[in-house]
Amino acid sequence: MPSKPLNRSLHAAKATKQDEFYTQLSDIEKELRHYTKHFKNKTVLCNCDDPKVSKFFHYFSHNFEKLKLKKLIATCYKNCDADLFSKNKAERGICLEYDGDKSGNRVPDPAKFCVHKFKGDGDFRSEECVKLLKQADIVVTNPPFSLFREYVEQLVKYKKKFLIVGNQNAVSYKEIFDLIKGNEIWLGYTHPVAFVVPDHYEMREARSWRDENGTNWRSFGNACWFTNLDIAKRHEELVLYKTYSRKSYPKYKNYDAIEISKYTDIPGDYEGAMGVPVTFLDHYNPDQFEILGSSRTLARPMSEVAKKGSFSQGGPRFYLSDGEGAYRRMYDRLVIKNKGL
Ligand SMILES: C[S@@+](CC[C@H](N)C(=O)[O-])C[C@H]1O[C@@H](n2cnc3c(N)ncnc32)[C@H](O)[C@@H]1O
Repeated sequence: MPSKPLNRSLHAAKATKQDEFYTQLSDIEKELRHYTKHFKNKTVLCNCDDPKVSKFFHYFSHNFEKLKLKKLIATCYKNCDADLFSKNKAERGICLEYDGDKSGNRVPDPAKFCVHKFKGDGDFRSEECVKLLKQADIVVTNPPFSLFREYVEQLVKYKKKFLIVGNQNAVSYKEIFDLIKGNEIWLGYTHPVAFVVPDHYEMREARSWRDENGTNWRSFGNACWFTNLDIAKRHEELVLYKTYSRKSYPKYKNYDAIEISKYTDIPGDYEGAMGVPVTFLDHYNPDQFEILGSSRTLARPMSEVAKKGSFSQGGPRFYLSDGEGAYRRMYDRLVIKNKGL
């Protein structure tokens, strides 16, 4: 993939809030195939989706009959013209409703799409959009990264089922972490990597390229799906084939838990608290483990337990002794406990 930085003004890029990342159809298909049973007779809302470009809208309109949907609604923020990649310059948004192909050929007929302009801009928090949200059974989209917390908060407030793309770093937001800890939301199956971005987005040195068709792309190492729809993966037991020993599993200096650097190293016979990387969430089965908290909230300040100068400063994290009087700062850790012991 060619990765040639373009000479664009940094100022122009900063002036735009960079929320336009378009999900690929193949990534939607890869994830959605695990959720088929949830959609029968349901109204699906894609509320951050320009129907002209959104592959979410494409997926649901083309699979409307197969999924036995009741209705599909897509709303688009600040864009009602035919411009492929919105700069969100329009004052008003649009709403599109579709209740299936009646001709029997199972191909969505644009003449059957009912389109109307909102009075407002189509913001997912607006009264017009909330009214549609109330009608919906399941919300499926990739919402703006910059409003992720607010977006999830609204879904929870209206008790909606959802499947949305987000950034795994959102797990460190208190609000999102509390939902994960409380088993109200969890991670889906796959990790979309590459997203289409508008032409006016600045090229980056890395993870940014233009393909042979002139389409601009960016890739992320930490995108994932968040959902509250039940999935089989969540009930699969992680096979624990390691045995605990004091030597192999040192305890942190500032919290009573053992360090596990890879989820595959979780010992099957340890009853106490264990610190694991955030990637453990991809394998989390709430019947097997309980999440007690995270290093951000559980770590004691190192100043209370170790001499100044023996550890590197920073926000709350766990520390491990290096055996020579100094302490190594760990990455963020989740703290878990095996429920079966
Ligand atoms: C990450 S993009 C994803 C677009 C589309 N859902 C997809 O996956 O291809 C987020 C979209 O949300 C739109 N957006 C930004 N702020 C919004 C808001 N307040 N309400 C609704 N949509 C918003 C952006 O214009 C952008 O198209």
